[in-house]
Amino acid sequence: MEKTIEQIKEEALKELEAASDSESIKAISVRYLGRKGAVTRFLRNISSLPLEIRPEAGKKANETKKTLEALFNKALKQFATASYEVAGEIDVSLPGRALHQGSLHPITQISHQICNIFIRLGFDVAEGPEVETDYYNFEALNIPKNHPARDMQDTFYISKNVVLRTHTSPTQPRIMEKQKPPVRVVAPGKVYRCDSDLTHTPMFHQVEGFLVDENVSFGDLKGILTTFAHQMFDKETSLRFRPSFFPFTEPSAEVDIRCVICKGKGCRVCSNTGWLEVLGAGMVHPAVFENVGYNTTRYTGFAFGMGVERIAMLKYGIDDIRKYFENDLRFLRQF
Ligand code: PHE
Repeated sequence: MEKTIEQIKEEALKELEAASDSESIKAISVRYLGRKGAVTRFLRNISSLPLEIRPEAGKKANETKKTLEALFNKALKQFATASYEVAGEIDVSLPGRALHQGSLHPITQISHQICNIFIRLGFDVAEGPEVETDYYNFEALNIPKNHPARDMQDTFYISKNVVLRTHTSPTQPRIMEKQKPPVRVVAPGKVYRCDSDLTHTPMFHQVEGFLVDENVSFGDLKGILTTFAHQMFDKETSLRFRPSFFPFTEPSAEVDIRCVICKGKGCRVCSNTGWLEVLGAGMVHPAVFENVGYNTTRYTGFAFGMGVERIAMLKYGIDDIRKYFENDLRFLRQF
């Protein structure tokens, strides 16, 4: 025997009571009010009922349909508000999206590490402008106009006498002008050169360091830089000073550290030499002291400038400098 409309309604209500989420309510709704649903089929079959009960059955079936529709909608709404689930737009069962905590760029981190080592050795930290005058970038550092040393650094000119600084060395005359010895300063910052390949980017970072006082010797420079290398890398890291030339230091040296990747055996990173150049250094040239009004017979000093990307590449064993500037979060998050 066919189920009566009362039975159908009762079953629907029982199922509705047991439903625990909007998905099951929707399924129940389909089972009863859908195209092939129980209530729909009942309505369709009314014409085959005995004539005398047809009007009553039709009325009841339509009432049941309306009641169930209202109940289903109400239940759906309740679940939606209870679970902040707005009509299928938000799936609250999905795991939340964790917010990533930002962090300092690896180059910034290394720059801080470098400065911190020198701070512990008694140095102050200072900064100079990235848009620099020709005077501080060159002239005050004993690099006159038409000096061949200007070709060493492919300069970005802003105007005839204004450049993007090609090194952090202009912080030397800037600070010395204002401060009498003793001075001990490290100056980190961005520098710019018109250069771009596997190991060069048009913008990179340096940390400048200088110390001026009475009786400062090249031995002090060696001692400070050796201490730095031991703290930055490890106690086994040895240094090599090669004679070099900078107009603002005399004598000048280029300083290599024993390759931290292969420990001196020779590898791709050090081009099989076992050594890596990390900084330029020397005793401050008397001409620089004269430009800032220091007594050249009383004071001597040393200066050095190191490439932060270079140190970072060695510290992390990454041999393509451009990785640091592509801002690929998968790369940056490793640090
Ligand atoms: N300014 C030099 C450079 O950019 C490095 C340097 C700094 C050399 C201080 C000597 C003393 O290459």
